[in-house]
Amino acid sequence: MSKNVVILVGAPGAGKGTQAVRLSQALELPHISTGDLFRANLAGGTALGDRARSFMDQGELVPDELVLEMLFDRVAQEDCQKGYLLDGFPRTIAQAEALEARLGDLVPTVVDIQVPDSDIEQRIVGRRMCKECGAIFHLTFNAPAAEGTCDTCSGALYQRKDDTKEVVRTRLEEYHSKTAPLIAFYTERGGVSEVDGRQQPDLVFEACLASIQGPIQGSGHGVSI
Ligand code: AP5
Ligand code: MG
Ligand code: ZN
Repeated sequence: MSKNVVILVGAPGAGKGTQAVRLSQALELPHISTGDLFRANLAGGTALGDRARSFMDQGELVPDELVLEMLFDRVAQEDCQKGYLLDGFPRTIAQAEALEARLGDLVPTVVDIQVPDSDIEQRIVGRRMCKECGAIFHLTFNAPAAEGTCDTCSGALYQRKDDTKEVVRTRLEEYHSKTAPLIAFYTERGGVSEVDGRQQPDLVFEACLASIQGPIQGSGHGVSI
């Protein structure tokens, strides 16, 4: 079986994490979120977490060298032999080039979940996450059955420290200046599938899955859906 590397690109709050959980199950690929890996390091009080903290709290990207070491350690693990689903990586051209050097001839499948900036603040400020299992909720769009409690595991819900109106502004600036150029980078390579992230989550999921399993694979051309 050939290796399958899928990259989800999208602004903060576009729905990468929400979709990655389901896509990971459907595609049988491990879900690797560099944001989640950093948060695990923060929670565990590691030296890496300490170095990443101030960047994350301010909504700035963590320096490439810290991200790359952590990511490459993760994808070297046994469960990534058949491929993996990347959420929030790469975030800069330098990260994309480092991944490309590692993958060699393998061209990743890239999906861009598109949500306009005007929708992002509400998504981010209303998000709540489960402390135990990481499940993602939204006070309006995906409210938990019982306030403050995870539907899946009954864990306590919390708000990410960077999920404030002020920090969102910096995160969006970082996205547009450093991450959005990846669309052109990958368009020149295997192509990029565009998915409308304003739809209901189920429809976003179907569109992502269709674009990953559809004609883009091996065609060498991007498709737009
Ligand atoms: P990271 O954790 O990756 O954050 P992000 O990219 O800002 O993305 P989010 O996790 O905020 O959004 P999402 O797209 O996953 O949306 P979600 O599904 O949760 O990174 C955090 C920080 O870590 C960075 O700022 C940086 O400092 C550092 N970092 C991480 N990776 C790095 C890298 N590679 N390089 C350098 N630094 C790095 O959905 C959001 C909300 O919307 C939820 O409440 C959800 O319920 C709701 N929602 C989802 N889909 C829909 C829908 N279709 N309709 C309505 N609501 C929806
Ligand atoms: Mg996320
Ligand atoms: Zn939970």
